[in-house]
Amino acid sequence: MNEEEIISLENKYLASTYSKLPLIVAKGRGATLWDANGREYIDCMGGYGVAIVGHCNPRVIDAVKAQAEKLITCHGSHYNEVRAMLLDRLVSISPAKMNRVFLSNSGAEAVEAAIKIARKYSRRPEIVAMTGSYHGKTLGALSATWSPRYREPFQPLLPEVKFTPFGDPEKARAAVSNKTAAVIVEAIQGETGIKPAPDGFLQELREICDKNNSLLIIDEIQTGFGRTGRMWASEHWKVDPDIMCLSKAIAGGLPMGATLARDDVMASMRTGDHSSTFGGNPLSCAAATAVIDYILDEGLVERAAKMGAIFKDGLERLAEKYRVAREARGLGLMLALEMRFDIHDMLLNGLKERVVILYSGKNILRFLPPLVITEKQIVRVLEVLDRLIKTEEKTRFEN
Ligand SMILES: Cc1ncc(COP(=O)(O)O)c(C=O)c1O
Repeated sequence: MNEEEIISLENKYLASTYSKLPLIVAKGRGATLWDANGREYIDCMGGYGVAIVGHCNPRVIDAVKAQAEKLITCHGSHYNEVRAMLLDRLVSISPAKMNRVFLSNSGAEAVEAAIKIARKYSRRPEIVAMTGSYHGKTLGALSATWSPRYREPFQPLLPEVKFTPFGDPEKARAAVSNKTAAVIVEAIQGETGIKPAPDGFLQELREICDKNNSLLIIDEIQTGFGRTGRMWASEHWKVDPDIMCLSKAIAGGLPMGATLARDDVMASMRTGDHSSTFGGNPLSCAAATAVIDYILDEGLVERAAKMGAIFKDGLERLAEKYRVAREARGLGLMLALEMRFDIHDMLLNGLKERVVILYSGKNILRFLPPLVITEKQIVRVLEVLDRLIKTEEKTRFEN
C-alpha cells in the first residue's frame, strides 16, 4: 500500500475520534521510529508513554515469540505459568501492601476495576477526584476525568463523583467525608500538562483518607515503571496507596492493565464480581515479565533520572532563552515545556525535523520518550527545539 492509500483507508473507516498527525509509523527500535518511506525519527512520544523499554525491545520480542508458539489465550478460570510468574514479579516491585492484582487490558479498565473495588470494600458510593485529572474515557473512568469537554456529551455519568482542586489539601479535607469510598489522584498529572503534586499534598491526602476510612487510589498509568526516575511516582513523596492503577508501559506495547490493592481491600471482591476475557492472557504476561526484568537488569529507573536531568536542564535553558517559552516541568523522562502559543504547527515542524513530540493541552510540549533514549538523541532533540522555538519567537516578536 502506498502512503496515500494508508491515509485514505484510515480516514475512511476508522472512527474519527483521534486528532491525527501526518506520520505513518512503519517500524520502531529503541527510541527511533521509521516512517513508510524509511525516514528516521527520534521518538519523544513513545506511543503515549508506552514504549518505556524501547520499541521492539529484543527481550520482549523473544518472550512474545516463545509464548506465541506455546499458548496465546488462557482464561482467568484456569492457571498458567507465565501469569503466575508475572504476578510474582509485579508484586515484588510494587509499593508496600500492593499484593493482590486484577489483570485487564487498558488504563481505563484498570481504573474501572479500582472504582468497583473501592465501592465494594467501603460500601460507599462516593469518589473524590481532582481538577485536571485524566483517568480514561470508559464511563466509570470518564466520571473521574476532569475535562468537561470529555464528560459533558456523555452525561449522565456515575453519580457521586466530586472534584476537588489538585494540590489544595484544605479543599480536599472539606470534600472527603465518611461517605467517600476513595480519593483518586495522579502523582503527576500527565494529560493536563505534566503537573507534579505540590510537596506535601499526597501525604495530606493519605492522612485525610485514613481519617475518614476512605481508600487512596493512585493512578500510576502514565508515571509508573520508572518513567519519573523512581519505580513509582508516589515514591517521590513517600506515600503508599491502598489501590494502584497500572497500564501503558507494563507489557512493552501489548495491551494490559493492572489494578493492585491491599489484601484486605481486594478480599471484598468475590467470584463473579469482576472479570475480563483477555485479562492476564499469556502473551501480555510474557511481555510484561520481560519488561520488568529488563527495567531491573538494565537499571532503567536510574537511567530515567539521569537522562531526565540532562533533558530537563536543556528545556529549562530554552525556557530562559526565549520569551515565547513559559516553563519547563516534570520528573525523570516525563517532561513538558509550556509555551505561550498553540503548538500544533510546532508538532508538524518537529516531524519535518524528524522529531516526534506529543502535546499536553494546546500550548504544552510533552516528552515521554522510551527510557533507553540516548544522550546524543536528547541533544539532537534540544537542538531541533531551539531552532523551532527561535522561528516562533521571530514571527511573534519581530513582526
Ligand atoms: C493517568 C492515566 N490514567 C488513565 C489513562 C487511560 O488509559 P487508556 O488510554 O489505556 O484507557 C491514561 C491514558 O493516557 C492516563 O494517562
